[in-house]
Formats: sequence, C-alpha cells, structure tokens
Amino acid sequence: MKTAALTAALWVGRALAGSVTVPLSPDATATDRPAESTIEPSTAAIASASATVKPLSPTSDVKGVAFNRIVQVWLENTDFNASAADPSMQWLASQGILLTNYFATTHPSQPNYAAVVGGDNFGMENDDFDSIPANVSTVVDLLDTKGITWGEYQEGIPYAGFRGYNYSNQATFANNYVRKHNPLIFYDSVTSNATRLSLIKGLGAFADDLKNQKLPQWSFITPNMTNDGHDTNITFAASWARGFLEPLLNNSYFSNDTLVILTFDENESYSLKNRIYTVLLGGAIPDELKGTADSMFYNHYSTISTVSVNWGLPSLGRWDCDANVLALVANKTGYKNSNVTLDNLYFNQSYPGPLSDSAFTPGWWPVPNTQAKCAAGKGVLSSIADTWGTSDGSFNYTNVYPYGLGENTGGTPVVGANDAPTSTSGSSSGSGSGSTGTTSSTAPAKGTNAAAVAAPESMLWFGTGVAGLLAALL
Ligand SMILES: *[C@@H]1O[C@H](CO)[C@@H](O)[C@H](O)[C@H]1NC(C)=O
Ligand SMILES: *[C@@H]1O[C@H](CO)[C@@H](O)[C@H](O)[C@H]1NC(C)=O
Ligand SMILES: *[C@@H]1O[C@H](CO)[C@@H](O)[C@H](O)[C@H]1NC(C)=O
Ligand SMILES: *[C@@H]1O[C@H](CO)[C@@H](O)[C@H](O)[C@H]1NC(C)=O
Ligand SMILES: *[C@@H]1O[C@H](CO)[C@@H](O)[C@H](O)[C@H]1NC(C)=O
Ligand SMILES: *[C@@H]1O[C@H](CO)[C@@H](O)[C@H](O)[C@H]1NC(C)=O
Ligand SMILES: *[C@@H]1O[C@H](CO)[C@@H](O)[C@H](O)[C@H]1NC(C)=O
Ligand SMILES: *[C@@H]1O[C@H](CO)[C@@H](O)[C@H](O)[C@H]1NC(C)=O
Ligand SMILES: *[C@@H]1O[C@H](CO)[C@@H](O)[C@H](O)[C@H]1NC(C)=O
Ligand SMILES: *[C@@H]1O[C@H](CO)[C@@H](O)[C@H](O)[C@H]1NC(C)=O
Ligand SMILES: *[C@@H]1O[C@H](CO)[C@@H](O)[C@H](O)[C@H]1NC(C)=O
Ligand SMILES: *[C@@H]1O[C@H](CO)[C@@H](O)[C@H](O)[C@H]1NC(C)=O
Repeated sequence: MKTAALTAALWVGRALAGSVTVPLSPDATATDRPAESTIEPSTAAIASASATVKPLSPTSDVKGVAFNRIVQVWLENTDFNASAADPSMQWLASQGILLTNYFATTHPSQPNYAAVVGGDNFGMENDDFDSIPANVSTVVDLLDTKGITWGEYQEGIPYAGFRGYNYSNQATFANNYVRKHNPLIFYDSVTSNATRLSLIKGLGAFADDLKNQKLPQWSFITPNMTNDGHDTNITFAASWARGFLEPLLNNSYFSNDTLVILTFDENESYSLKNRIYTVLLGGAIPDELKGTADSMFYNHYSTISTVSVNWGLPSLGRWDCDANVLALVANKTGYKNSNVTLDNLYFNQSYPGPLSDSAFTPGWWPVPNTQAKCAAGKGVLSSIADTWGTSDGSFNYTNVYPYGLGENTGGTPVVGANDAPTSTSGSSSGSGSGSTGTTSSTAPAKGTNAAAVAAPESMLWFGTGVAGLLAALL
C-alpha cells in the first residue's frame, strides 16, 4: 500500500477536491507516518502468560430501555448480496430483523473495528500496529459510568489481554487470532489498565461465562480468521454463525432481554457502496418482528448511540453522537432517527487523520464535540470534556454520518435530530412527546468548525476518482 502510486493518487485527488480544514503537512505521503513498534512476546512468554493470566468475569444487571445485554458478532469482508444469497444467513434473518441499510465506515478491516468502540476511525486506512492515545475514550468508559459490565471474546487469543500482532495456529501457522480484529486493543485507555486487559478474553471464556451465568452486559465476539470468513468464504462463516448462535437463541439465560447484532466489518468490493448484511437477534426482538426488515440507515456508530440511549449514557462526542439509533430502542424512547438519502454515499474512503497514511496529520488528533447533547440527551462524558475542553468538534460530529469528508461530500448534510438548530422542543432528552418512527431532516449541517483547530494548512481532499486506485492498492 505504501507505494508511489498512492502518493500519485493523493495528488490526483487534490486536484478533484473539496476542502477539509485539518492541519496537514502539504508533503504528507504514505511514507510520512512512522511505523509503530509492534509488541511481539516470545513463544515462551506467551506460554507462561497463558498458564498464569486469569480472565475476569464481573457481572451486573442494569436495566435498559429495550435490552439488558448486547452481544456483537462480526464476520468479515462480504458484500450484502453475497450474504443475502446464503442459506444460513437467510435462516438467521428469519429469526430476527434484517437491517438492509447498515453501512461500514471505510476499508480495510481495522478502522471499522476501531470505529465501533471509539466513535471514529481517525482516518485509518490500514491494518498496521496502530495505538490510540489514552486521552481518547471508548464505549467502555460510557458503560463504566453505570457499572454496566463488558468484555470481549476473541477466538484464538492465547490469554486475556494479549497485545501481540497475531497468534497463529501453532501447528500449521495458519491465521487464527489477529490484533486488527480486536476493537478495544487499539486504545491505550484500555491497554494501560490491567483490569480492562483481563476482560479481553478468548472464546473458551465465553463458554465458561455462559455456563457460570457470568456473561457481561456488553460484549464483542470475534471468531478466528477461519470462522469469520476472512480466510474462508460466506458459506463457511454463515454456517459457523448459525452453529454458534442457534443454541444460544434457545438458551434462556443467554437470550432473555438480549440483543445480538450479527454483522460484517466491511463489504468486499471497494468500488461499491460499503453496505453490509446485518441481523438483529435474541430475546429482545419481539416475536412479531422476526423475519422482518428495517431499511433505516444505520452504521457501526449506531451501535454506540443505541447503547447510550438504551442505558441513558453520555456520548463520546464523535460520530456516535447523533448516529441513528436502532428502532428497537428509538421506538421506545421516541428518538427521531434521520431518514438519510443514500445517493452518493459510499463509505469506501478514509479522511485526514493521525492514523491515515495518505492524509497523515502528524501529532494532531481530532477534537470531539464536547457541547452537543447527542442522541441520549446526556451530552458528552464529563472526563472527555475535561480533557479536550470546550469545542464544537474538529468535524461535523453531530451529522448522522461522517459528512463533508472524503467521497461523502456528495451526500446530504443531516444534523442529528437531537441537535438540530431549528429544534423548539423544551426537552433536551431526545425523548420526544410520543413521536415515534423516523423523520426526514434536511436542516443544514452546522458550519465548518475549522476555528476549533489550528489550521496551518488546508488540505485539499480526495475526489471520488481515487476510489478505484485505492481499491487496486488495498
Ligand atoms: C453480487 O453482485 C456482484 C456484482 O455487483 C456479482 O458479481 C455477484 O455475482 C453477486 N453475488 C451474488 C451472490 O448474487
Ligand atoms: C504471527 O504471524 C506470522 C506470519 O504468519 C507467524 O510467522 C508468527 O509465528 C505468528 N506469531 C505468533 C505468535 O503466532
Ligand atoms: C479456528 O477455530 C476453530 C474452532 O472454532 C478451529 O477448529 C480452527 O482450527 C481454528 N483455525 C485455526 C487456523 O487455528
Ligand atoms: C480500570 O478499568 C476498570 C474497568 O473498566 C475501571 O472500573 C477503573 O476505573 C479503571 N481504572 C483506572 C485507573 O482508570
Ligand atoms: C465456499 O467454499 C466452499 C468450499 O470450498 C464451496 O463449496 C462453496 O461453494 C463456497 N461458497 C461460495 C459462496 O462461493
Ligand atoms: C431450538 O428450539 C427449537 C424449538 O423451540 C428447535 O426446533 C431447535 O431444534 C432448537 N435448536 C437448537 C440448536 O437447540
Ligand atoms: C426469561 O426469564 C424469565 C424470568 O425472568 C423466565 O421465566 C423465562 O423462562 C426466561 N426464558 C425465556 C426464554 O424467556
Ligand atoms: C455493496 O453494497 C451496495 C449497497 O450499498 C450494493 O449496491 C452492492 O451491490 C454491494 N456489493 C455487492 C457486490 O453486492
Ligand atoms: C418501530 O416503529 C415502526 C413504525 O411504527 C415500525 O414499523 C417498526 O416495526 C418498529 N420497529 C421496532 C424494532 O420496534
Ligand atoms: C425516506 O425517504 C425516502 C426518499 O427520500 C422515502 O421514499 C421514504 O418513504 C422515507 N422514509 C421514511 C421512513 O420517512
Ligand atoms: C492527546 O494525546 C495526544 C498524544 O499523546 C497528544 O498529542 C494530544 O495533545 C492530547 N490532547 C489532549 C487534548 O489532551
Ligand atoms: C461541515 O459541513 C459543512 C456543510 O454543512 C461543510 O461546508 C464543512 O466543510 C464541513 N466541515 C468539515 C470539517 O468537514
């Protein structure tokens, strides 16, 4: 990926561009972002830690509006139509609600995994050993405010909290566990805390926690590179998913008041829209909605806004702020989702940021919007506001999807319903008076907030013509 062709693509892109006001070295190229050193424990160190490190399994029972437990399961790299054609996926969809307009954030894998817990992908368009500084918060900081327990189950990880780049099958050296599919491990705010590391467990711990009735209320499950379809195909991955989930759906301890979100990190064809087949399952789904579909626009950030509204939590003040909330929750609180016009929305590209190679912003991290009310009406986590200060954010974070960046400049700006400047509601909770369902919002996005960012250089951003070139390189 780090090739002269990419640099050329960048300059071609600049000629096509609109402007984004983040500081960027005019000479930034793929080679400018320094490689991070990787963590590679020796085989002996891994064996020793495997024998001694004990995972933790704290429990809690904090009631939510529509579910008391959420479990996300991610498969890999499959176009919507390929999933839709698969019999195992069709069976799973018959047991729940199919989301027909759920989008990933970009390509390749890793930025999507980073996004689903951190509310941004920070411009990442690589699977490198990236680390995100400790002053960037994640969904687990939101959950911690109410003592809602959480954990990850990473199939093939050799011990809880392993931070290495991969752990392969030790007999065949085939891909098994990979860091790039482990959402929380990128964040120093997680890895600097030993308790948190001990909550990043293997899939064997899932079986134990299930048996012992010690599952957390928020969890993320990553099957290994065989089971998630990365090194196999949709037939294999969907069959694994059905085999894994079907007994769980029959298990009353697991399923009662539980929402399962089965999705993919990204769509396979980089030149097409990044729409991914997503099924909502579990006891939280009303029987009468099983086998139905929901065409509302959602994305990976919706999983954070949904958790925030479900449990009345603050926001990260990034793209999670006003991301559309799953109807399961939105219908119960009266939260008004925004009906997004999908024309020109692809979500195949990245944007300038500290983890971008092609538009690297050395030393600059985007500032969250610390003033927005966000979907749950609870504002932004106070420690985030304390750290980052008063700001309306480096980007249009109250838009329903990343707006004004990359190829999505072609979309329509849609301010989150809860932050619309025209709102006359006396309520700041986002729980309107009986209004349900969805509404179309065409209010303009708030103006550029360039002032929040010292901007020595304005970078001219890629046009859509670069997508094909990037696709060829990635
Ligand atoms: C999905 O669409 C692509 C082109 O858009 C096509 O090549 C492929 O055969 C389709 N797959 C299925 C399973 O329909
Ligand atoms: C990581 O992957 C590389 C390349 O496949 C392999 O050589 C190495 O042994 C793996 N590391 C571990 C700890 O499994
Ligand atoms: C992935 O996990 C399955 C068990 O779920 C195991 O049979 C398989 O060997 C693993 N893949 C690799 C490459 O180790
Ligand atoms: C470490 O993580 C735990 C679990 O998320 C949290 O309760 C605790 O406050 C964290 N400790 C510090 C010092 O951040
Ligand atoms: C997946 O691979 C298996 C085994 O190679 C094959 O039988 C199946 O047809 C493949 N599925 C698709 C959708 O290509
Ligand atoms: C789940 O329960 C249904 C009926 O309640 C049954 O038909 C099905 O075989 C069960 N599946 C498993 C995997 O136990
Ligand atoms: C769910 O929990 C209730 C008690 O809270 C129990 O009666 C019921 O059997 C459980 N299982 C299912 C599948 O609803
Ligand atoms: C990727 O998603 C888009 C929808 O956003 C869809 O039109 C396209 O067909 C998908 N790719 C394939 C090959 O199915
Ligand atoms: C939400 O409300 C809409 C409109 O009444 C309805 O069509 C949809 O089925 C509901 N969805 C859920 C998950 O409750
Ligand atoms: C969303 O907008 C589209 C076209 O703009 C329209 O066809 C559709 O009915 C709208 N849906 C809702 C729920 O408002
Ligand atoms: C956040 O941490 C990064 C990396 O250490 C640093 O460059 C930045 O100044 C910090 N920002 C704030 C607001 O603390
Ligand atoms: C925010 O959206 C406005 C359009 O409403 C656009 O002009 C501006 O460039 C966007 N700002 C950023 C930082 O993307």
